[in-house]
Amino acid sequence: MAACATGAVAPPAVKIDVHLRDGALASLADDVRDGLSRRPKELSPKYFYDERGSQLFEQITRLPEYYPTRAEQEILDRVGEHIVAETQPRELVELGPGSARKTHALLDPMLSRGGEVTYVPVDVSEAAVMGLAERLTGAYDGLRIHGVVGDFEQDLERLAHNGRRRLVAFLGGTLGNFDREQRRAFLTRTRGMLGPHDRLLVGTDLVKDRGRLEAAYNDSAGVTAEFNRNVLRVINTNLDGELEPERFDHVAFYDEDERRIEMRLRAREQHSARIGALEMDVRFDEGEEIRTEISCKFTRSQLAREYAAAGLELLAWHTDAARRFALSLAGPAGETA
Ligand code: SAH
Ligand code: TRP
Repeated sequence: MAACATGAVAPPAVKIDVHLRDGALASLADDVRDGLSRRPKELSPKYFYDERGSQLFEQITRLPEYYPTRAEQEILDRVGEHIVAETQPRELVELGPGSARKTHALLDPMLSRGGEVTYVPVDVSEAAVMGLAERLTGAYDGLRIHGVVGDFEQDLERLAHNGRRRLVAFLGGTLGNFDREQRRAFLTRTRGMLGPHDRLLVGTDLVKDRGRLEAAYNDSAGVTAEFNRNVLRVINTNLDGELEPERFDHVAFYDEDERRIEMRLRAREQHSARIGALEMDVRFDEGEEIRTEISCKFTRSQLAREYAAAGLELLAWHTDAARRFALSLAGPAGETA
């Protein structure tokens, strides 16, 4: 709610709204207390992304084993211009943009049409929103940036529609970090942000052989393991915790029935750790696991069904040449004829 504006032109070229400042710590405390009291223990993936976590994710996107970023970039480079020509958006809302390196494939064609374009990156990581705003400010004529530091599971209703055509982008396979129930809720709410001519563009990883999937989440350099352990450091920093990351192994495996990668942290030995701000001692048995993340893999028909259940219609489906990853375009059902 606190707003600050930088930039010398009027109207300001950059505006950043911070929705989380008061709420972030409170929800971390509640989520950690709740998650670490459960069996199995569980932590929400949105807490991976402090400044260090965002940097580690950026490193993940460059790993040889982690193909999704390169596959999605390949698709965006091929069809970004076409999608923009068909959709004619004047506003790009991006959910969880991270560093927004791939987003140029959409912003470039939007701006080359002339006129004013608004970019609305919504990310729980303040460092991510500030970083990309800094990088994009002045990079384009006619670009207004309205950054939102917020939670895309809670703050979407606050994004007022400016009446111009809107494209909502959700890239990087982040939809797959929700389970089926969360996806249904999320897609339904996102449907509510769309006028009849607005579109939703989603990047999803595809079902494939176990070997390639598991390698992508078990890189040989150990970056993914460090990223996974980072959630423990976030708890230590913000909740006066004494969790010891080096006492946990990174575990990631593909569950073929659920069609998803599961990420866990497994205690190497039995031990306890204090979380000061929660006045809580957490006990871990040897081999006990904390579930930290899922990453669901999709097929076209599955996604089409999930869109339909949320009042959306699958309009276009694009994959990379090796068919590892898909970009799908959806619109409000029944209004797109
Ligand atoms: N879209 C980028 C980054 C994907 S990583 C890419 O394709 O490479 C996921 C991003 O979503 C991170 O930047 C993280 O900070 C953000 N994120 C995770 N959970 C979030 C939530 N609940 N609300 C808003 N942003 C979230
Ligand atoms: N959206 C990314 C994915 O599902 C997030 C991710 C990549 C991730 N590597 C990770 C999450 C490792 C936790 C741990 O591919």
